[in-house]
Order: sequence, then structure tokens, then C-alpha cells
Amino acid sequence: MQTTREHWGNKLGFILAAAGSAVGLGNIWKFPYITGENGGAAFIIIYLLCIMLIGLPVLIAEILLGRYAQKGPISTFRDFARRHKKIWTAGGILFFITGFIILGYYNVIAGWSLGYVFESISGHIAGISSSADAATHFRELVSNPVWTLFWHFIFVAAGGLVVYFGVRNGIERIARLLMPVFFLILIFLVFWGVSLDGEGKGLTFLFQPDWSTINFKTVLIALGHAFFTLSVGMGVLLTYGSYLDKNDNLLFCGSMIVILDTLIALMAGLAIFTSVFGMGFDPAEGPGLVFNVLPAVFSIMPAGSIFSLLFFTLLSIAALTSTISILEMLVSTLLDETRFSRHHIVIVLSLLIFVLGIPAALSFGGWSHVRLFDMTMFDIMDYLSANILLPFGGLLVAVFVAWVLKKNTVLNELYRGIAEKSALRKTGDTWYFLLKYVAPVLIILVFLSITGII
Ligand code: TRP
Repeated sequence: MQTTREHWGNKLGFILAAAGSAVGLGNIWKFPYITGENGGAAFIIIYLLCIMLIGLPVLIAEILLGRYAQKGPISTFRDFARRHKKIWTAGGILFFITGFIILGYYNVIAGWSLGYVFESISGHIAGISSSADAATHFRELVSNPVWTLFWHFIFVAAGGLVVYFGVRNGIERIARLLMPVFFLILIFLVFWGVSLDGEGKGLTFLFQPDWSTINFKTVLIALGHAFFTLSVGMGVLLTYGSYLDKNDNLLFCGSMIVILDTLIALMAGLAIFTSVFGMGFDPAEGPGLVFNVLPAVFSIMPAGSIFSLLFFTLLSIAALTSTISILEMLVSTLLDETRFSRHHIVIVLSLLIFVLGIPAALSFGGWSHVRLFDMTMFDIMDYLSANILLPFGGLLVAVFVAWVLKKNTVLNELYRGIAEKSALRKTGDTWYFLLKYVAPVLIILVFLSITGII
């Protein structure tokens, strides 16, 4: 059992770490390609609605729950459920499993981005001359088990190392160091993209909606992505919230995290689509978009290897601050539930995560024919966790906070550390309403719609 719980150095440290968790491959790798596949601006509008009506309220609820309980997800559900403790404990275990699955495949893509940092340094990217070339190069790399598993391993080890040092000396320190570097690189890339000649097409694609592309499946993808990109729905922010001081303003912290995450996704979209259109490439490339298309873009632009180096460094930083947050959730759960030390837990979990990632890594090479419902292992892990388990986890958080805990307890916790409580009453009430009715109903509707019931 854990005796003293670690805490963040201060509020900024928490916001940077939580924003670091939220801002990840989801923003830079996934958001652009799913936007590209699902028709651009119309998809973005649905996604933003999901963020505001569902993502933000559930995110605040999850952090609040963690701070209130001062525990990891399983113990929180078990200790604070007044009835049906077994079912709620199972919910906590589901969070643990979701975290495991996400880390398994997430580290694979993270490994690719680190691998591409070295591709940029070694001059391989500069040698690419067309998008066909870039795609061949990409396919050769990702289908080579030695290459993918090597970088996959390095990335898992890097995440493990940070978490090994704990909350303040590991996670918070890395977030404080890397998040500013991340911002600078991103701003630089956006300015470059917007200054290109063909940038207008990218802007139209991002900001002019075409509603004919939207159906229930798109809404589910937007909803799943809202959870994924905010790191909501599997206890990661609950864990980070449990290291938070009682007198920090949750409405402020929560909104900051959501604003930063959304802003960064849109900026990444801008940088990527202006470059892709500016250089005449196809936006609907799928998961390979940033690896297939961008190297070709980089190779024909002046000082391309530097941009390529910057971009893949950006992607690796984003991925690292996210993987450590998921790993920390798993670690803190086991710290609560077992007698093992942080160090031992980190080492064993990292090894297991590496092993779990192997089928995902091989999905792009030797195991690409291993399919279920016409999806590779990688696709299954992604679809199941992002589109099913996360929205379901978000539903659990919303129901637990708004329906299981007492309203008074919840609102008191929300207003803790806020001097002008009366000024925020309306905001608090709106939040509670969204959490109690709007978010659960919308999540359930989207679920019913894909099962074909409505
Ligand atoms: N939000 C991260 C991204 O956008 C991924 C991530 C980190 C995550 N922690 C999470 C997703 C917790 C779901 C739950 O890439």
C-alpha cells in the first residue's frame, strides 16, 4: 500500500503535464488524417461540438474525481461507490485494460516518429524525391520488424524511464522542459505552412464544411476522438487529478487543458494541410499521412531536412508526454493495489507493454494478413480502444460523478479553491447539467446508432 501520495510542484506543473498528456499523436498524427478521410471542415465542427458538450464536462469530472478521492481509478470506484461495488471495480479494471491496449499500439507509432527523427538526421528524407518514393520508403521501414521493434522498444524504455523517477521528478520535469520546445517548433511550422503558395486550398479544406460527408459513423469517430485527444475516459486524468492540490481551480485548469489541446490540433492541421495542398498531395492518405506524405513535402522544400527533423521531434515529444501519462495511470493503480515498489512496477509493466505492442507493430509487415472483421491487429486495438472503450469509460466517469456521488459533494469539490464562488455558480450548474444529462445521453445515442438500434 502506498503511504504518502506524491503531488505536483504547482498548478502550472499540473497543467503542463495534463496538456502534455492530452496533446499527443492524437493531435498531430491522428486528427489530420481522420479529418482528411472524413471530409474536412464538417468533421471538425462535429468534433468541436463533441469536445465542448461532452469532452470538457467529462474531463473536469474526471480530474475532480481524482482530486476528491486521492486514489487511482480502481480504488476510487471501489471505495466511493455506495452500491454495486463489484461492478464499479470492474469499471476500474476496464480502465486499466484500456490503458494497456492503447499503450500497446500507441508506442508503435511513437517509435516510428522517433525513427523518423533519425531518418531526417541521416539524410534519408532529403533523398526522397516523390510521394511514391516516400510511400515506398515508409512501407519498407514499417514492414521491417527489426526497424519497428527497435524503435518501439526504445520508446517504451524512454517512457518507462521518465515514470521511474516519479510524478514531480520525472513527469512534471519532462513536461516543463519539453512543452515549451514543442510550442516553439509548432508555431514555426504553422508560419511556414501558411506562407506557402497553395495554402488557400488547405484553408478551404479545413474551414469550409461539406455536410454530405457526415453520417453516424463519422459522429462516432469524432466522439471517440474527442475522448482520445483529451485523454479522457480511462482514468489517466483521474490519476493526474489525484496528485493535485485541494485549492487549485478545476474549472480553470480543465478549460486550459481543453483549449490548449484544441488549439494545438487545429494548428497541427493548419501546418499539415497547407503543406500537403501547397505541395499538391492527397489529404485522404489515412494513418500514413504524416509519414507517407510529409517526407515527400519536406524533400522538395528548401532546408527540408531541418523541417523534417523539427516535425518528427515535435511528434516524438508529443507522444512521449502522452505515453508517460498512460503508464503513470497503470503504475499508480498497481501502487494502490499491490505492495510492489514503483521501480519494480515500471520495469515489469514496460516489458509487458512492449510485448503487447509486437502484434500491432507487425501489423504493417509480416502479420498484415492476420485479420478480424477485415482489420489488422493494429486497427482492432485502435478501433476498440478509441471508439468503444474510451466513450464507454467517459460514460462511467459521468455517471459516477453525477449520479453516484452526491451533488453537494461534487459541487463543493468543484468550487474548492475558488474565491468568487457566486460568480461561478452558473458555470458550475451548467457543467453539472451537461455532465448529468447531455453527455451520457449523447454517448448512449451514438452507441445505439452504430449498433443499428436507432
Ligand atoms: N491524448 C493523447 C493523444 O492525443 C493520447 C492519450 C494520452 C490518451 N493519455 C490518454 C488517450 C488517455 C486516451 C486516454 O495522443
